[in-house]
Amino acid sequence: MKSSAIFPRGSTVLLVILLSTICLVTEAQQCRPSGRIRGRQPPPGQCNQENDSDCCVEGKMYLTYRCSPPLSRHTKAYLTLNSFEAGGDGGGPSECDNKYHNDSNRVVALSTGWYNNGGRCHNHIRINGNGRSVVAMVVDECDSMEGCDVDHDYQPPCPNNIVDASKAVWEALGVPRGQWGGLDITWSDA
Ligand SMILES: *[C@@H]1O[C@H](CO)[C@@H](O)[C@H](O)[C@H]1NC(C)=O
Ligand SMILES: *[C@@H]1O[C@H](CO)[C@@H](O)[C@H](O)[C@H]1NC(C)=O
Repeated sequence: MKSSAIFPRGSTVLLVILLSTICLVTEAQQCRPSGRIRGRQPPPGQCNQENDSDCCVEGKMYLTYRCSPPLSRHTKAYLTLNSFEAGGDGGGPSECDNKYHNDSNRVVALSTGWYNNGGRCHNHIRINGNGRSVVAMVVDECDSMEGCDVDHDYQPPCPNNIVDASKAVWEALGVPRGQWGGLDITWSDA
């Protein structure tokens, strides 16, 4: 018997099997892209860039996601700025109620996976960011499956980890106006 007393050959094999099983399970929990869509050039007057919105580029491929990262008590996300008013950069009316919403209200859109087919519509979520904690209502989907069309104001599909918030949310978090648009946050159901 040459193999070491601490890791005899048999247990080394077991260890390798155990580690690869753990890797596979971890992998299954990750949210992987579900497909890709090809970007189309926005027609003139489409894709309002007033708030630094991204516009689709002709021929560029964009990843789509049916899922979002798994939830925890403090789910990590990226906060972006959206207008929910008519003529804003949010595209059509909100998905939950087919209505526009006043940007003075604390409202958000969630990436497709977290939006959960409308399962969170009009529920409140707690957003932690910039050292503060704010409650906001879910009214819309940030579509991770579709984009680059008139319904989405010719913006690319949403990443899978977005909380897209009205200016009222940014104000309540105390973020200086010049820095609105991108912030690492955590959120949970309120
Ligand atoms: C840009 O954001 C501000 C603050 O939310 C909002 O008042 C304005 O309507 C937005 N513009 C567009 C085109 O969405
Ligand atoms: C949104 O609400 C504010 C405050 O209540 C109000 O002053 C404003 O006129 C409203 N805007 C729209 C577009 O309804």
